[in-house]
Amino acid sequence: MAGNGGGLVDGDWPLMGGRFAPVDYWQGALWATLAHGRAAAQFNHRMIAYALLASGVVLLIAGARRPPGPKILYRLAIAAVALLFMQAGLGVATLRAGDPLWLALAHQANAALLLCLAVALAWRARRV
Ligand code: HEM
Repeated sequence: MAGNGGGLVDGDWPLMGGRFAPVDYWQGALWATLAHGRAAAQFNHRMIAYALLASGVVLLIAGARRPPGPKILYRLAIAAVALLFMQAGLGVATLRAGDPLWLALAHQANAALLLCLAVALAWRARRV
C-alpha cells in the first residue's frame, strides 16, 4: 500500500470508485497486478482486513463459549480484537482523508502494536 501509493487512489469507502471491485484492478498480467497495481493493492488490503476482522469476531465468540481458561488469555484476545477494529478505523480514516502522513503513521504504528499483541496471545495460548 504505502510503497506503491495504493492509498492515493479510490478514496471512497466502502466502495472503490463507486463499485465493489475497482475497474482498474487487472493490470494485464498477474505479477503486474499483484506487485504494481495500486487499486489491486488497496482492494486486496481491504479484503484481507475484512477477513481478519471476521476472524477476530469468531475468536471472541469461540473464546466466550469455551470453559473458563486463564483470565489473561481472554484479556489478550479482547485487547487484540479491539486493536484490530481500531486498525480498520484508522485505515478507513487514512484513506478518506487523502493519506495524510500523520494518519498513515498512526495506522502503521497501530499495526506494529497489533502484531505484538497477536504474538503475545499466540504465545500464551500455546501454554494453556
Ligand atoms: C484491519 C486490518 C488492517 C491491517 C492489519 C492493516 C495494516 C497495514 C499496514 C501494516 C500498512 C503499512 C504497510 C503497507 O503500506 O502495505 C497499511 C497501510 C495502509 N492501509 Fe491498512 N491495515 C488494515 C486495514 C485497513 C483498512 C480497512 C483500510 C481502508 C479501507 C486500510 C488502508 C490503508 C492505507 C490507505 C494504507 C497506506 C498508508 C500509507 O500511505 O502509508 N487499512 N495497513
